[in-house]
Amino acid sequence: MKFDYLFRNVTVIDGSGGAEYLADVAVLGDRIADIAPGISGEAAHEIDGCGRVLAPGFIDVHTHDDINVIRFPEYLPKISQGITTAIVGNCGISAAGATINSEVPDPMNLLGEAHQFIYPTVEAYAQAVEQARPAINVGTLVGHTALRNNQMDDLFRPATEAEILAMRGQLKQALQQGALGLSTGLAYASAFQSTTEEVMALAEELAAEKGIYTTHLRSEFEPILEALDEAFRIGRHGKVPVVVSHHKCAGAKNWGRTVETLRLFDKVREQQDVSCDCYPYSASSSTLDMKQITDEFEIVITWSEPHPEVAGRSLKQIADDWSMTLHEAGKLLMPAGAIYYNMDEQDVRRVLRYPATMVGSDGLPNDPMPHPRLWGAFPRVLGHYSRDEKLFPLTQAVHKMTGMSAARFQLPERGLVKRGYYADLVLFDPLTVRDVASFSNPKQPAAGIEAVMVNGVMSYGLEQKVIGRAGRFLRRQK
Ligand code: ZN
Ligand code: CU
Repeated sequence: MKFDYLFRNVTVIDGSGGAEYLADVAVLGDRIADIAPGISGEAAHEIDGCGRVLAPGFIDVHTHDDINVIRFPEYLPKISQGITTAIVGNCGISAAGATINSEVPDPMNLLGEAHQFIYPTVEAYAQAVEQARPAINVGTLVGHTALRNNQMDDLFRPATEAEILAMRGQLKQALQQGALGLSTGLAYASAFQSTTEEVMALAEELAAEKGIYTTHLRSEFEPILEALDEAFRIGRHGKVPVVVSHHKCAGAKNWGRTVETLRLFDKVREQQDVSCDCYPYSASSSTLDMKQITDEFEIVITWSEPHPEVAGRSLKQIADDWSMTLHEAGKLLMPAGAIYYNMDEQDVRRVLRYPATMVGSDGLPNDPMPHPRLWGAFPRVLGHYSRDEKLFPLTQAVHKMTGMSAARFQLPERGLVKRGYYADLVLFDPLTVRDVASFSNPKQPAAGIEAVMVNGVMSYGLEQKVIGRAGRFLRRQK
């Protein structure tokens, strides 16, 4: 037998959560052709793993890479972490299926500028991805806020019956064209006025097409239990799985409360398919939100349209310099982006460790001073949390970023090192893998990620360079 690639002597962590084992792994075309000790046969390329780990390529289930994977198809921030698939369209905002008439509403402005929203349908987006051929695979959700913005003249009110009907039509078409599901961003002002019934009506379309519901909750602050309950009710109404995005308890008064939220998850999971994703940091990042401005924790401004010079400085310093209150300074900085040090480390650990938690970066690729999760989330889970802090075994860490994610997001034949599956693979050194990106120097590739293969094409390797681009658009499979 002649293979294209043969990984010799690798420790296979197969993504299922099961035990690791030593083997050779052979790749032919875009598939894993064989897994066994001492495979006989030749290969065009042989790689001696020397016992390093071969795992399924990581799946970043929570991203805002919609437009950037097309504009910058090498996509170094993600492939350098071992990520081979990104799910875009989270938090209610998607480029796929969005039409912008004048201004890009907050937080859709995280994705790009008005002239970059040129994908009125999922089909148009899929074609653009295929044409750009990014280094990583891309699947998309459709954003509720994007649908609202298509159909409504004013986002700061509930949708009318007629508008809901129009959104349902667009969502149905998007799902039929291969969208994985619907995302909401109910905490943002641009969706906050939508009623639970509005989202439930959309969830009915999800049920018909077997899509998934992901949600940036109505609140991650004190009313979080009510917000979780709303998300779970929407899932029950639509009879669809629910993924709670970047689960956290934000705000000083809320610290420690993941004990309660995870207890609720436990209870609800007995009757209903619910899970969550999480990034491994105790600071969050998004657009600057006047409601989140407080002196209880540090807030760092990452960008500001009227004051680009303040990027990287704390809101407190800026306000002191300008001799005004935090809120007054915040107002002058808008529109702006921020990092909020608003979580408790113990909460982050509790959520990460939770059996139904997947890893998602929530990286913001257009931010000039991005939160380090954009470049570091996955290696940080492997290196810092699994190896150094021993939060969970490496097999669990890998499962949370591969097998579990592929199953939840319905990505068939991906997420496992298994014969016949797509050859999305990452070779890494478990002793040296770590996130290098930091808050002060955030745009840095991880250490210890030695080779990344996407659909059987070697795509990232020595010298931290992108050497292949074989990503595909992944449509929901019925
Ligand atoms: Zn979000
Ligand atoms: Cu997000």
